[in-house]
Amino acid sequence: MDQPTVAAAFLPSPPRIGEPAPAFEVETTQGTLRLDDYAGSWLVFFSHPADFTPVCTTEFLAFANLSPAFKENGCELLALSTDSVYAHIAWVRAIEATFGARITFPIVADASGEVARAYGMLMPRESATEAVRAVFVIDDRQVVRAVLYYPMTTGRSVEEILRLVRALRTTDRHGVATPAGWLPGDKVIVSPPRTVEMAEERVKAGDPDCRDWYFHLKSPG
Ligand code: BEZ
Repeated sequence: MDQPTVAAAFLPSPPRIGEPAPAFEVETTQGTLRLDDYAGSWLVFFSHPADFTPVCTTEFLAFANLSPAFKENGCELLALSTDSVYAHIAWVRAIEATFGARITFPIVADASGEVARAYGMLMPRESATEAVRAVFVIDDRQVVRAVLYYPMTTGRSVEEILRLVRALRTTDRHGVATPAGWLPGDKVIVSPPRTVEMAEERVKAGDPDCRDWYFHLKSPG
């Protein structure tokens, strides 16, 4: 096994679930933006390797298509790559000309890689300069709630990212967990009981959605 390179050794550890999102002030296609500008709103902050590349273009089309749904769920979108703001402008114009889709979310021009490094979006064994496909779901208190990483060659499911935001918001609203593949309208998971007595009470109540003392579904709300 090779040793990590010097560059890799100096990368800060990426923010983890439950940690505050690293602050930033960045140049974007919609002017200067700071993390604080998103306080009180949810944010999906995602990186892509490079403008004018086919997989990234398909992802941008998918984000553009679901952008109203993210908004309906109180969530903003913010993209990032290490390309310049001029490249971003040219690319969003090309996407609109070729595919008829308007990119309404801002794109960070992180040419120095400073923000990408702070968020753990650079993986030197994949590329020294281009970001991998990272996704940070940041809540309205600017805490990191979910982190996804995909390699350069695999486009992400934007529907899954939207599902993740909806699931996290449902968890916050109702104090519940969500099962595999959960979608809005599906039943949610009630927290398991913490004592033997509570477990017995739960089973005795005879709710058909309580399949066992630790496995209790219910409708949200
Ligand atoms: C793409 O978006 O098509 C892509 C970008 C970097 C590496 C491989 C594919």
